[in-house]
Amino acid sequence: MTIASAASKVILLGEHAVVYGRPAVAVPVSEVRAWAEVNTILSEEGICIYAEDLGRSFRLDDPPDETILPLQEAVRNTLRNLRFPIEALSLEIRLRSRVPMARGMGSGASVATALVRAIGKHLCHSIDAAQASALVFQVERIFHGTPSGIDNTVIAYEKPIWYRQGEVVFLRPGEPLHLVIGDSGTPSRTRDTVAQVREKHRADPAAVEALFDEIARCAEAGREALEQGNPITLGGLLSENHALLQRLGVSSEALDALVMAARRAGALGAKLTGGGGGGCMVALAFEEDVPAISEALAAAGAQSVYYTVVM
Ligand code: PMV
Repeated sequence: MTIASAASKVILLGEHAVVYGRPAVAVPVSEVRAWAEVNTILSEEGICIYAEDLGRSFRLDDPPDETILPLQEAVRNTLRNLRFPIEALSLEIRLRSRVPMARGMGSGASVATALVRAIGKHLCHSIDAAQASALVFQVERIFHGTPSGIDNTVIAYEKPIWYRQGEVVFLRPGEPLHLVIGDSGTPSRTRDTVAQVREKHRADPAAVEALFDEIARCAEAGREALEQGNPITLGGLLSENHALLQRLGVSSEALDALVMAARRAGALGAKLTGGGGGGCMVALAFEEDVPAISEALAAAGAQSVYYTVVM
């Protein structure tokens, strides 16, 4: 039996604008992970996949639907990449995930990364971060059409990154970042909010490009503040970025309420994270304020609250 796991992630600055060539900053959430377990089975069943959180069990060659296709493709791409004949293998693959689905924490990329790694390991081929990232990117394209590539990159490398159109710079925070993540409880598909932004961009390109430029400025200044260990400046930029995402139309009442609650409880700054329209928000805090912020988020209606320290 072989097990592998992968982290989840939050985008600290720059979502949506990153799809249009602007820079963004993302960090891994190592505490909230997905796992894949691979066993060789003796029967000639082929490849069977059990996705516990989806409550689905299916075979690699079953007719695909929207939910299982990305997982089937992740398996196929990995085996093709390793040059293993699919027909020759009888495997049982189990997937488990603590990453909430469709909440902006990269659940699809996280499960796919764990899957790719576990298959590689089981077949005695180590898949490095660059390979995992590239394989998962292909799967991300099935999930949402025009992914920027930031999710698969930050998850595969499990390091803070600055990212722009495939260009990656690994960041070393000058001070550990204490992040509190609140889940609004409302699922939201990235594909839908990306399409919504595209429509807005089509209707008024100049206004939306100007918003993207403002978001890019937050991301660049935020990268500097993160590297220099200046949480107060970084927090302010998170809040500024949230206001820009509100203007872009991708926030929600529930997300705004959580962002406000975190700020009132002492957060240095807070914003929605990921595609928006639902899903999660993230707050930057001094360590001593984390319990109060977590309580405030729960009281303001967060379905789950996660805490992570990024070093
Ligand atoms: O919602 P998530 O975790 O898939 O993050 C999406 C980030 C976007 O910038 C909105 C889309 C992308 O492909 O970068």
